Amino acid sequence: MRVLGIETSCDETASAVVEDGHRILSNVIYSQVKTHAAFGGVVPEIASREHLAKIRHIVDQAIADSGTTLDDMDAIAVTAGPGLIGCLLVGLTYAKALSFSKNKPLIGVNHIEGHIYSVCFEHPDAEFPALALVVSGGHTNLFWVESPTGNFQHITYRLIGKTRDDAAGEAYDKVAKLLGLQYPGGPVIDRLAKLGNRNAISFSIPKISDGALDFSFSGVKTAVLRIVREENLPPKNEAATREDPHRLDILASFQESVVHMLWSPTAKAAAQLKPRSLMVSGGVAANSRLKEYLAEKAAEAGLRFYYPKLIFTSDNAAMIAAAGSAKLQRGETAGLSISPDPNMRLA
Ligand code: KG4
Ligand code: ZN
Repeated sequence: MRVLGIETSCDETASAVVEDGHRILSNVIYSQVKTHAAFGGVVPEIASREHLAKIRHIVDQAIADSGTTLDDMDAIAVTAGPGLIGCLLVGLTYAKALSFSKNKPLIGVNHIEGHIYSVCFEHPDAEFPALALVVSGGHTNLFWVESPTGNFQHITYRLIGKTRDDAAGEAYDKVAKLLGLQYPGGPVIDRLAKLGNRNAISFSIPKISDGALDFSFSGVKTAVLRIVREENLPPKNEAATREDPHRLDILASFQESVVHMLWSPTAKAAAQLKPRSLMVSGGVAANSRLKEYLAEKAAEAGLRFYYPKLIFTSDNAAMIAAAGSAKLQRGETAGLSISPDPNMRLA
């Protein structure tokens, strides 16, 4: 079974070919991050125009790299939501055209479900039930994931926790901006935090008092803002920040607080639901401290711990093709009338 995947929900134009649900034959990603960096964040109108300019070339490249042809595909899987409407429209329309002209089934994939499938390449035999933590620039969600078949072929989701304010990646991006660091903030803070003392400042972890397994990141962001204002800290770039121990401590302590915040509801969920594993995915799953901390905590809690390879943490189409392959096997194909849903929910 071969599935062509297409992803254009935000600022990556991506296409991939995946065989039998988890073997990657090709994976092509064009990131627009440099274009948007100048604006300090993704500009939706520019993003959709860039997708339009790149989509044909990226899909052709993915097919060529896979050593197959479009005729060899069993289906075309495309991100149908959530995401930026203009961006989703480009990928979905292109996929529809391919599906119609080649008479291949079309599969609409939820982008968040795609992120969860990003761990299946390294761990096709992952153990269920699992807790899946999806942490990106747009989402911070905790899902209870069960599999009636005991594998990735068929999984069901229940949303058990979500952020009440900023997404974790958004908090990284905003804190980076406050201190004069470049967009996106996650990778640069990850590098700089290694040079600071993560216990220097103790940012309090917000308590969610109603018992929900939710997350909150606006408190720590505001705490950093307060330091910047009270101490009158001017913006500094990455090179200058490296020479400033106080700033390195702020960044390391901020990161530590985010990592603890991500674990805290997850730990509660693990104690209540007794899963066999923990999966983390999405752009923030690239974070070295998060992976280190979760690996340690998961081991203490007796959970298997899975995270994607770095290339599959950010948006890619291999994860969309993998989720699409499972849907194809279950007969969940879409008609040509499918439309993009910017607010699509998974559970
Ligand atoms: O999944 P993704 O590529 O796009 C969305 O669907 O949002 O995630 C992008 C987010 C950005 O907020 C970026 O700052 C964050 O992931 N990110 C990181 C790291 N690399 C990317 N956050 C923390 N540490 C990293 N190493
Ligand atoms: Zn994403």
